[in-house]
Amino acid sequence: MLARPGTDTERMSRPTSACIDLDALRRNLLRIRELAPRSRVMAVVKADGYGHGLERVAHALEGADAFGVAAISDAERLRAAGIAKRIVLLSGFVEPGDLPLLQRLRLDTVVHHESQLAMLEAASLLPDQGRIQAWLKLNTGMNRLGFPADAAGAAHARLRALPIVGDEICLMTHLARSDEFDSAFTLEQCARFELATAALDGPRSLANSAAVLGWPQTHADWVRPGGALFGLSVVAGRPASEFGLEAVMTLGTRVIAVNSVEPGAAVGYGGGFVADRPMRIAITAIGYGDGYPRLAPSGSPVVVRGVRTRTVGRVSMDLLAIDVTALPEVQVGDRVELWGKQLPVEEVAAAAGTISYELTCGITRRVRFMER
Ligand SMILES: Cc1ncc(COP(=O)(O)O)c(C=O)c1O
Repeated sequence: MLARPGTDTERMSRPTSACIDLDALRRNLLRIRELAPRSRVMAVVKADGYGHGLERVAHALEGADAFGVAAISDAERLRAAGIAKRIVLLSGFVEPGDLPLLQRLRLDTVVHHESQLAMLEAASLLPDQGRIQAWLKLNTGMNRLGFPADAAGAAHARLRALPIVGDEICLMTHLARSDEFDSAFTLEQCARFELATAALDGPRSLANSAAVLGWPQTHADWVRPGGALFGLSVVAGRPASEFGLEAVMTLGTRVIAVNSVEPGAAVGYGGGFVADRPMRIAITAIGYGDGYPRLAPSGSPVVVRGVRTRTVGRVSMDLLAIDVTALPEVQVGDRVELWGKQLPVEEVAAAAGTISYELTCGITRRVRFMER
């Protein structure tokens, strides 16, 4: 029988899947609570839950105190999925027309710029508005978003004066180098934040994942972990498992062909990999069309039948060749792990010259997501 495009039959014919371990996700949240016992936890689930699937991740993390997203559309999806918890727009709103949406969806917003203050002031002149909880963001050294630290008092007073802004104004900053445990920069940012906010009331929030793990003095009232929840390594050279965190996503596929090649044979587009001896090459159903990084060179790690081996040749859209010369038992149908429980995604990311976050965020729609 011919499979029609988009039918289950067709999807089943491609054995490529991202398995999301929701129990591991829940345990990672508990671990974060252990590490920051006096703080509330804003689970950062932007970019479709770091590529793990926004709704499934939010339901699994219902023990969090709030969710952080970057786009209003993500917040809309969370409300549509029945998530009633606080949701914070981490980059704030961008135009006046966003404000009624924030009110209707009961969203908190980060306020990081003069232009947003002006929009809130203009909206406050209109009748019948609901109130919006504001997170006043200060720039203490990241130099990305945030009011200058010495403008904190004035911005806070202006927010306070607005009927559209909720009573509790949270104070936050973002750390630029919290993943460098031996750098004094985080302490400098903390000191600037403390000085800028000393006279202001409201809960405080500084810590991303790396700060949760390595800088207890930044935990304050709210921590804002993202990567650590998903078991991604957030400190260079130190796997998440070292901090008691587990991988949540396992990207897998199967072997669809096994071929022998003679010495001198080139494998894949461009012929960049040439066999230097008789080799067995397994072809697997994964490629950059699924989100596996095209820049991963020959020699990138991969696991087949639970044994680690290496990729060979260029990654193509649908296929990836792997070296199974030393694994004579490998055959068509065998399971292959590209990253996950047996192979930290950071190792693949390092081979491809990127970070794990980019890889998990980059899984494409043709990959079947499964939960366990
Ligand atoms: C403002 C803010 N807080 C927290 C996070 C979470 O960061 P991480 O994934 O490193 O924990 C992010 C992500 O970039 C962010 O932009």
